[in-house]
Amino acid sequence: GGDFNQKIDYVFKVVLIGDSAVGKSQLLARFSRNQFSLDSKATIGVEFQTKTLVIDNKTVKAQIWDTAGQERLDFYLLLPEIYNYCVFSHQSTVSCSFHAVWYAETDQFIGSPIRYRAVTSAYYRGAVGAMLVYDMTKRQSFDNMARWLEELRGHADKNIVVMLIGNKCDLGSLRAVPTEDAQEFAQRENLFFMETSALESTNVETAFLTILTEIY
Ligand code: GTP
Ligand code: MG
Repeated sequence: GGDFNQKIDYVFKVVLIGDSAVGKSQLLARFSRNQFSLDSKATIGVEFQTKTLVIDNKTVKAQIWDTAGQERLDFYLLLPEIYNYCVFSHQSTVSCSFHAVWYAETDQFIGSPIRYRAVTSAYYRGAVGAMLVYDMTKRQSFDNMARWLEELRGHADKNIVVMLIGNKCDLGSLRAVPTEDAQEFAQRENLFFMETSALESTNVETAFLTILTEIY
């Protein structure tokens, strides 16, 4: 018993980054709620989920942050004054309200907009772990890892624990990124590395547990 009034020993913030459609939100849904959806909608703005686990007899609350892939963030950057009431999809722009953003001053999520630059720094602030996600069936999403890593290193704490994730390993026949290429990149950049499938649940729990244990 006692689960509801559990004392939290640590809160670890982990951020998910990577191109649009690589599966960041579904990895998070799988880890936090054991859910998966094939018609997952592109993430707008910033969202997070928490999951409490016990590591080494300590209660650790993992706070996993998820945001949109680069393309839409680029859009926000170009159109900062209107992104607050627009949702950008690949083909069209539709009118809609913004999900939620985090205000550093008050540590609150509020459903109103802030500018891209502010989003970027708030997103990385306080993060102790990061998952750099690519889609192993999309070479471009792997080639972009260097850019994501650069953004991460420019905004995050230098001691952040980083894991490279090759997602969608259930689509083995469509593989466009050999495991060795990713291993080599991870080794060179000093990252942990794992191939996952949010769809089949492969390595999802292991990947999050590895990063959280390493942080701890
Ligand atoms: P943005 O929010 O736009 O940055 O994208 P995202 O990285 O959050 O991608 P999302 O989780 O929304 O997944 C994109 C698409 O890939 C959806 O159709 C998912 O169902 C699918 N998908 C995610 N993970 C997997 C996986 O492990 N295997 C397969 N086959 N499809 C996956
Ligand atoms: Mg998403």
